[in-house]
Amino acid sequence: MTKTYHISRRNFLALSAGTGLSLSLSGCGILGGQRKSALATNVIRSQPLPIPKLLTGTEINGQRVYDLTMQHGSMVFVPGKSTATFGYNGDILGPTMIMNKGDDVVINVTNKLGEPSTTHWHGIHLPAAMDGGPHQKIENGDTWQARFKIMNEAATFWYHPHLMGKTAEHVYHGLAGLFIVKDPQSNLALPDQYGIDDIPLIIQDKIFNADGSINYPGTKMGVKGDHFLVNGAITPIFNAPAQFVRFRILNGSNARIYNFGFSDNREFYQIGTDGGLLEKPVPLTRLILSTGERAEILVDFSGQENSKVQLVSYSAEIRKINSIFIRDAHDKSTIDILTINVNSSTTNPIVALPPSLAIINRIDESQAVKTRSFKLHMHLGAFLINGKKMDLERIDQTIKLDDIEIWKIKNNSDMAHPFHVHDIQFLILTRNGETPPENERGWKDVVLVNKHETVRFITRFSDYSDPDNPYMFHCHILEHEDAGMMGQFVVV
Ligand code: C2O
Ligand code: CU
Ligand code: CU
Repeated sequence: MTKTYHISRRNFLALSAGTGLSLSLSGCGILGGQRKSALATNVIRSQPLPIPKLLTGTEINGQRVYDLTMQHGSMVFVPGKSTATFGYNGDILGPTMIMNKGDDVVINVTNKLGEPSTTHWHGIHLPAAMDGGPHQKIENGDTWQARFKIMNEAATFWYHPHLMGKTAEHVYHGLAGLFIVKDPQSNLALPDQYGIDDIPLIIQDKIFNADGSINYPGTKMGVKGDHFLVNGAITPIFNAPAQFVRFRILNGSNARIYNFGFSDNREFYQIGTDGGLLEKPVPLTRLILSTGERAEILVDFSGQENSKVQLVSYSAEIRKINSIFIRDAHDKSTIDILTINVNSSTTNPIVALPPSLAIINRIDESQAVKTRSFKLHMHLGAFLINGKKMDLERIDQTIKLDDIEIWKIKNNSDMAHPFHVHDIQFLILTRNGETPPENERGWKDVVLVNKHETVRFITRFSDYSDPDNPYMFHCHILEHEDAGMMGQFVVV
């Protein structure tokens, strides 16, 4: 039965604290993805774009130490109503952690949610026991310490909960934050003034009830919202300087895939993928980004003072990805994401596009010692990889340390699945036998595998082995992951 709780936040928290009640902040049950109470229509839009605070850590004995607390928060999305949320160190989302390549980092994660969770460092190459996956459970009240060395390239990563069966709900209620890894050796002239010309954009969609509460319908096919949030504000406004601006875009949505572009169809340049910079800037007018994926882009606003442009998702254009029954009304339309007002430039802007960005050490196919096949499919409401549903007690793949492997992902369904692998970054070899588009020829940790498509990628499993602690591979549509479209591998 669908139930709606009309209780104040204070009583709600008291209630949950007193009873150890597992929180469902939406206060509603799952009934075929439908709920009966009224949805919010008059939400607050067009606020200034919030920029997540920076967390630079403290230097202690040669290590950088960061503290994160998973906690309850309160936001206002519907006028006069408060919305119970989750956040790291704040009401919603989390601070942006800045790290340098080569840093030894220590992250203390304290759970004050009132229920167990975990925190996973998405895209980071690290020991499995430090990964923050479903096995590194943090009980309410506990602090878990992750220690690792940053070996990744300079890029944009993110952190989010990963508790088996709860990931989708925890992320949807606000738990997610960014990591920016910098390379102190790099002297590339790219915009890097955080919040000024180097702008994080965490894009998510949510549903709100008329009483302000978050509506999480739990739809197994994937929860898609009808309000679009950037850094925790609904279709906000960003005042951009009239110069090259770098956007670090994360699709932090549970299930929706976007096809980003600008309302005037202007060209922009993709400079980075999930795990590093591309070889050179790639001019684009559209950018498909599935859940969990990141892209760094440069947009030139030089000489455009006092103009205005929208960042939108031209969702109706991406028919090849999903069958028609997977697409909701927003997927068949153009979605407004962010309004950009161009103001005057800063005093010393980056004025030119670097002709080259990074050297990517490509791995030749002939070096691979093995090809592993993964079949994704959905059957009678089950979400499966190679016919199996995730089992925390089962190791699906055992990989030898330092091996180079090709993974072949075949999607046997009418729905696209963003395939993600922990620990490593990979290079896409082919999509249905063809070389991937230029903007996908960089390091990746998520690849969107379209309906009935086969994607092959190559990677190396280096540095860390541990027979007792597995890493995950899974679909990054969070409801699919929670429903079992996930498996485990160990590196030995
Ligand atoms: Cu973004 Cu297994 O996670
Ligand atoms: Cu991950
Ligand atoms: Cu999926």
